[in-house]
Amino acid sequence: MTMYDILTRKKQGLELSREEIRYFVSGYTEGSIPDYQAAAFTMAVCLCGMTDRETTDLTVAMAESGETADLSLFGELSVDKHSTGGVGDKTTLIVAPIVASLGAKVAKMSGRGLGHTGGTVDKLESFPGYDTALSPEAFREQVKKIGIAVIGQSGNFAPADKKLYALRDVTATVDSIPLITSSIMSKKLAAGTHSIVLDVKFGSGAFMTTPEAAEELAYGMVKIGTAAGRKVSALITNMDRPLGRAVGNILEVKEALEVLSGAGPDDLKTVCLALASEMVSHALGKSESEAAAMCNEALTSGKALEKFREWIGMQGGDTMYVDNPDAFPTARYSHDVLSDTDGYLTYMDTERIGTASVILGAGRATKTDEIDHAAGIIINKKTGDFVTRGEVIATLLTSNEETLAAAAKTYLGAIDVGPEPPRLEPLIYKTVRI
Ligand code: URA
Repeated sequence: MTMYDILTRKKQGLELSREEIRYFVSGYTEGSIPDYQAAAFTMAVCLCGMTDRETTDLTVAMAESGETADLSLFGELSVDKHSTGGVGDKTTLIVAPIVASLGAKVAKMSGRGLGHTGGTVDKLESFPGYDTALSPEAFREQVKKIGIAVIGQSGNFAPADKKLYALRDVTATVDSIPLITSSIMSKKLAAGTHSIVLDVKFGSGAFMTTPEAAEELAYGMVKIGTAAGRKVSALITNMDRPLGRAVGNILEVKEALEVLSGAGPDDLKTVCLALASEMVSHALGKSESEAAAMCNEALTSGKALEKFREWIGMQGGDTMYVDNPDAFPTARYSHDVLSDTDGYLTYMDTERIGTASVILGAGRATKTDEIDHAAGIIINKKTGDFVTRGEVIATLLTSNEETLAAAAKTYLGAIDVGPEPPRLEPLIYKTVRI
């Protein structure tokens, strides 16, 4: 078998065998297949696609290219959630303790923020002392003891994806459904949980801008995860506007605590309850309605908040902030963005709002940037709201006063105001199960 022959066959639109796909993945991971042949491979896949069988084989080969977490001691109770990324998406902070408080085992590896999307690990580091780098043994032990642990992606999980994703980024081969599917699902399979609930976002702040495109990706991921032996489903949710009203790490933690305390924005609460119900239904074998009632009760009774406190404390975080969120540091400088006209807010370029938060210091433009945990945006008006001239649309917060002007300009450029109320896309478009 040679890589040249594999490339020729893929170029001709032929279906590759499992052996050919494994040959490529292992050769590229260990370095015997060079970047230029891997780039030709990804481009050929972009142009010719892959069958479901090929995508499954690619996903499993990539998942097995490095370490895999062994969560077998939890049987069918282990469950993970994955969001394709967004702005103001603090759902893990709410969903994970709800689900764990009901007896499922949430063993989760999360990412850091990059570009306009935030990352759960950065949000959790708002709690001084929170340890995002538990050893695999300590991680499993904590899940066994209290049902929940969330750590950063460390170790050598799916190294084939790390290499391929970086290559795709510079060869215009990111936007291919089989490649995105295998990239995301290989990491989820390596992370080892029995069930996986995917939150596939659509809209101006998402990778997939239309609900239909998000559905195609979701369907592909559910199919491949199921073929690989896991219980997988997906919710297709709205990122045409930020989720909730807070963007930025401490601000988002505070908003998550509001929801866990029975308050908080309705959109955030609705998406969290839907995701949590799906996870509970998978892990505990409950019907949709039973799972929904259980999750609701966990939230209203304070059980989920109690689990959140236990989780943060056991992972070394200072729980004083759970009970007293106002003690979190606040940003030194703030600036109100005012509407310059009367009318309905008709559109939010959510990606651009994420960029405004990065300018303020809440996110990273490059992997090595430092985060200002107190920086971010409080959004007062969202798509569909009526605004009057001079009204505060959003408040920008930062420790670096010099960023305010550029962030305000970016924010104003991200919204449209018009005379007619807009047609709102649904918050939850669909649940994909097979
Ligand atoms: N996120 C990933 O992890 N991989 C992709 O290919 C796209 C988004």
